[in-house]
Amino acid sequence: MIRFDDRVAIVTGAGQGLGRCYARDLAARGAKVVVNDLGGSLDGASSDASLAEQVAEEIRADGGEALVSSDSVSDRAGAEAIVRAAVDAWGRVDVLINNAGILRDKIFTRMDLDDFEAVIGVHLLGTAYVTRAAFPVMRKQRYGRIVMTTSAAGLFGNLGQANYAAAKLGVIGLMNALKIEGKKTDIKVNAVAPVADTRMGSRVYPDFFKRMIRPELVSAAVTYLASEDCASSGDILITAAGHYAKVQLVEGEGVTFGPEADVTPESIAERYGDIVDMSRAVPHETAMDAMKSLFVKIAPDDLQGAESDY
Ligand code: NAI
Repeated sequence: MIRFDDRVAIVTGAGQGLGRCYARDLAARGAKVVVNDLGGSLDGASSDASLAEQVAEEIRADGGEALVSSDSVSDRAGAEAIVRAAVDAWGRVDVLINNAGILRDKIFTRMDLDDFEAVIGVHLLGTAYVTRAAFPVMRKQRYGRIVMTTSAAGLFGNLGQANYAAAKLGVIGLMNALKIEGKKTDIKVNAVAPVADTRMGSRVYPDFFKRMIRPELVSAAVTYLASEDCASSGDILITAAGHYAKVQLVEGEGVTFGPEADVTPESIAERYGDIVDMSRAVPHETAMDAMKSLFVKIAPDDLQGAESDY
């Protein structure tokens, strides 16, 4: 059984919805949990500290250990305070689940840039701020599990969610970098793209589907990614209604004209179908691996030298 005894977890946005579910599951499995939530409205305009307190009470009533943080993830000092609360109380941070979020949907041409920045501020910067505070602690411990929260809106696109989509793909960029920076110290960084009948999802899904998308089904994947059992880093799991699958960025085989060729826009137009053909697409572990696969195509004879340069 997956357990978190002697482990310390932080769950942001844990006052309701998916975050509450994650916090309760981790606590039920032995983790000491910082229940963080600023509280308040879906657009992040108001706050209510009692939400997080209520979840911490539920955990304690079930015999678990929890403490409350009502700091905002989008405030640098607040993000540091969330991590400090864990370290001051329990001396470590083993798990960080970046889950807090808000929505300010609008068609892009009508989207106020303040609403763009507010959404980036919570999802992308908030994730970066809390992770930046927790990462050195995890490094020192030589152990950590971080779960980012992305969304199909960011991975694939969605109408009226330019701010949210940009932020949600931004956290994937952050994950891609940190999976490399955490490698030597057993810090695994993965992401979940949830679908659940909670506040952010419940407005958009039809009723028959809502009954299927229980948050507990997302929590099963998140708890696994947060556990010592999870040996992967850099995975994106889409989870909905008991279905789990990996989403990945891949590069097509493409067309190699070569560095000496006289490539014109007309050559691109002529070969566009082959350039965008994804039938033989492959993933890359890192940007360096992507570079190596490029060298194989453009200058296979120079690959030896190129590898030593990098
Ligand atoms: P929710 O609205 O039920 O819960 C989010 C929590 O984050 C709220 O309690 C809110 O008070 C808190 N929060 C907002 N700003 C904060 C801040 N600055 N600092 C600390 N806490 C803050 O949302 P839900 O539906 O549970 O979603 C959780 C996560 O999953 C979000 O990141 C969301 O974008 C993502 N997601 C959810 C989907 C769904 O179907 N529910 C679909 C795709 C992604």
